[in-house]
Amino acid sequence: MRPRPEIVTERLVLRLPEPADVNAVVRYFVDNRAHLAASRARMPESFYTPAFWVAQVPAARAEYEGDVSLRLFAFEREASGRVAGNLNFTNFVRGAAQYCTVGYGLDRAREGRGYMTEALRGGLDFVFRELNMHRVMANYVPHNRRSAAVLRRLGFTVEGYARDYLLLDGKWEDHILTSLVNPEWRDTSVR
Ligand SMILES: CC(C)(COP(=O)(O)OP(=O)(O)OC[C@H]1O[C@@H](n2cnc3c(N)ncnc32)[C@H](O)[C@@H]1OP(=O)(O)O)[C@@H](O)C(=O)NCCC(=O)NCCS
Repeated sequence: MRPRPEIVTERLVLRLPEPADVNAVVRYFVDNRAHLAASRARMPESFYTPAFWVAQVPAARAEYEGDVSLRLFAFEREASGRVAGNLNFTNFVRGAAQYCTVGYGLDRAREGRGYMTEALRGGLDFVFRELNMHRVMANYVPHNRRSAAVLRRLGFTVEGYARDYLLLDGKWEDHILTSLVNPEWRDTSVR
């Protein structure tokens, strides 16, 4: 089994959800339902229930073990148990690709303090160093200035423009495509 990721940054701890986190996770998504709606697919009502997240705890763990995804929640170190945000590294592709995608959201009350920049920096460091990904891709709708600023701060490069890329809140949205390459990627392939 892989070691459970626990990424400690200045103000946050990032980790996979545990059973004891379920209520905090539900509260985060319920409190931020409107705030996060425009950046994600429409979710069924069950998404906002403890039963859904009780099932997601082992599912997220299994995906991590299977080298499929890394679904992290960010907890504030000083407000233990409160979810500050979430970061999903998904769509892991190995072989000649060695890349994945990242998506993220922050509690509305915590915007404007650098939390997501800090969380993503920690998450990217783990994905690059521990999981040895070569490239992480992140995409945003052109008017999402906050997301664009976070990625620019972290050194992501704009690579393109995809028309009608994702169905967000029931509407196909164009996206700016960006990525960050791991300068310390290690070739561990068999020769
Ligand atoms: C996208 C999102 C995560 C960005 O959140 P954010 O709070 O703007 O980003 P950060 O937490 O990194 O904070 C950056 C802000 O904090 C300020 N800041 C304060 N201390 C900082 C620090 N130590 N480091 C970096 N920035 C800091 C920055 O100047 C910036 O300020 P601004 O709001 O005046 O521009 C958030 O808006 C969100 O959840 N949106 C809805 C979901 C979404 O769009 N997800 C992304 C889909 S692509």
